[in-house]
Formats: sequence, structure tokens, C-alpha cells
Amino acid sequence: MQFICTRCGARAPVTTLRPACECGGLYALQYEGARWDPDKIDRNEWSLFRYRAFMGLEGDAWKSVTMGEGLTPVIRFDDNVSVKMDYFMPTLSFKDRGAAALVAHMAQIGVRKCVQDSSGNAGIAVAAYCARCGIECEIYVPEGTSPNKIAMIEAYGARAVGVPGSRDHCADVCRKKVAQEGVYYANHVFNPFFYEGTKTYVFEILEQLGRIPENLFVELGNGTLFIGVVDALEFLLASGAIDHFPNVVAVQGEHCAPFAKTIESGSEKLVHITPEPTMAEGIAIGEPARADEILAMIRKHGIEVVTAPEEAILPARARLARRGIYAEHTTAAALAAYDRYCEKHGSTPDALLSMCSAGIKSDH
Ligand SMILES: Cc1ncc(COP(=O)(O)O)c(C=O)c1O
Ligand SMILES: [Zn+2]
Repeated sequence: MQFICTRCGARAPVTTLRPACECGGLYALQYEGARWDPDKIDRNEWSLFRYRAFMGLEGDAWKSVTMGEGLTPVIRFDDNVSVKMDYFMPTLSFKDRGAAALVAHMAQIGVRKCVQDSSGNAGIAVAAYCARCGIECEIYVPEGTSPNKIAMIEAYGARAVGVPGSRDHCADVCRKKVAQEGVYYANHVFNPFFYEGTKTYVFEILEQLGRIPENLFVELGNGTLFIGVVDALEFLLASGAIDHFPNVVAVQGEHCAPFAKTIESGSEKLVHITPEPTMAEGIAIGEPARADEILAMIRKHGIEVVTAPEEAILPARARLARRGIYAEHTTAAALAAYDRYCEKHGSTPDALLSMCSAGIKSDH
């Protein structure tokens, strides 16, 4: 198992404390894993680590890190739409998938201290799993982050460092600290181990439904879920576990939609946008660090990027709640985007949406 630079192809051991390659390129994880085989699922393990045969993960440190994350139900929303309840997690969002896998790796290689930047959910998840195995943790949060999210980070014993300005600026400040002080960067976007966790979203769907729904709506900000989903689907296809790639639809918020704008304009590189304030704060990323990788996936699989109208987010959140589902505003954007997709393409049955995060997190 090793890291390989996505820009220059240089290799590095996975024990490296460097956040990225010397050339500035981000690492991907390269390893010889098992092909998909239901008999290799550890059915005695009631967490996402039951899929560890298909994850890049070494050693047993995960046992002291896991809190039973994953294994979230898929339930009916209406005749056409099912939802996967990914806010049924220890820190109430899907980020636990990635954080559990990443912190398991950190514990395995002996990391004692880390920093991370996040608008909230990823920072919360990393703080919780670090608390679990005694890793000191500092989370940089951009101005405007929900007080509920900051309270959770601090409750886990991590230090929340508020940074004025945009979320992109907050990441720059944190990365400067990583470069200057050499502290471990437990970042959900940079660190390839995070995606080993988010891949399990798809493995679970296959195990619980016995198939992959025809239309998967996946929210896309930095792409931690999106990349995990596409990677996992490619892996299942290569293993012969599915016979075609389903219709993946990427969801962005209308007020911050760099991928939608890029595809619309036909530009090869991610176009620069000026984000406007939005209720979908979790996916409001103007300059995602893995933009080139994500654009390559979008083009390879002909993935449509659909935007959630800003004014449709609150009504969508209310509709979810009236079906018993109290979701974060960002999560409601997925339903708003699904509606817009149907306006364009007609009725779309057999659709699955992720209920990424719980409603109490964005109440403020
Ligand atoms: C509620 C919610 N949904 C979706 C996402 C999207 O994840 P990503 O930015 O990795 O694409 C996030 C990220 O923070 C989130 O908090
Ligand atoms: Zn490189």
C-alpha cells in the first residue's frame, strides 16, 4: 500500500506525515485489494469496518476507534425516492464514515496530534474519533459556522479556532500551520484514507438492497462522498458485482456551483466563481482541492451536475420533516435538486438520496 501523487506520479509511504506531494499534487491511495466478494464481508462486525477487506486499511487500530458507524437504513420517501439515513451516525453526519477510516489509519501509524479545517461536519467527526483514541486535535472553522457545530467540536475536547473570511481562506490558514509546524493534516479532502471510509456508502447499499438503485443523487462540495461513491462503483463494476454504472447525479447549491458552471461553459479546468451566501453551507465550496479528479470522473461517466434552487431548500426541508426526516439544510438541497432534475427529465423512479446530516446541526 502506498501513496501516489495525482499530479506527478511520485510515490510515498502511507506513513508519511506530509499532507501532499512536494510538487503540490494531492495523494491517491494505491493498493492491491480483494475483488468484491460477499463472503469477505465480516458479518460479525456491526460497523463499516465489516467491509475492511475492500478498504485500504492496515492493522487492528480500527478496533479502538470504531463507534459502530455506518450500516444506516434505506427507507422509502415516496413512490420514486428512497433515502439512506446517513445522519444515523455517532456525530450525526456521513462524515463519520471517512473520519473513522482516517483516524484508524492515524492511530495505526502513531499520530499524536493533528489539525483539520472544516465548515463543521468533517471537523466534528475528526474531533470525535480523535477523542476516542487520545489524539490531540485542533479544528479551524470559518466565520459563520453554526454555533451547534462549534459546541460539538469543543465538547470532544478539541480546540475550535475561528477564522474570519471564507471557507477557502480558512483552509489556507490551516494549511499554512501544517507547512510551518509539520503537524499531521487530518483533512477530509487531502487525506486519501478518508475516501476509504466514504466508499462504504455504496458497499452498504449493495449489501442491504442486493442491487444498486438506477439513480444515485450525491451532494458535491469538496467531493468526499462523491469520490468515494464513484470509486466504489468502479470497483464493483470491475469486480463483476454490478453489470453497469448507475446514473449518478451530482448535487450542488445554486449559489455555489463551480462544477455545474464548468460543465455548462465547456471549460476544461474548473471555472472561478464567486460564492454567494447559501443555506447549503456544507457544499458551498468554491475551489475544491480535488477539482481535476472530480471533473475527470464527471466526464468519464457522463455525470450530470444539477443545482438546488436556493428558494427551494426550506420547502424541501419541510417536506422531509413532514415525512419524519429532520435533515440539515444542506441535505434538503438534495431533494430540491432531485425535483429540478425531474422538471428537466421527467419522472425519475428508483432514485436514492443521501440524508447526509441531521437537522439540529444547522438550526441557528
Ligand atoms: C451536510 C453535508 N452534506 C454534504 C456535504 C458534501 O461533502 P463534500 O464537501 O465532501 O462533497 C457536506 C460536507 O461538509 C455536508 O456537511
Ligand atoms: Zn507530485
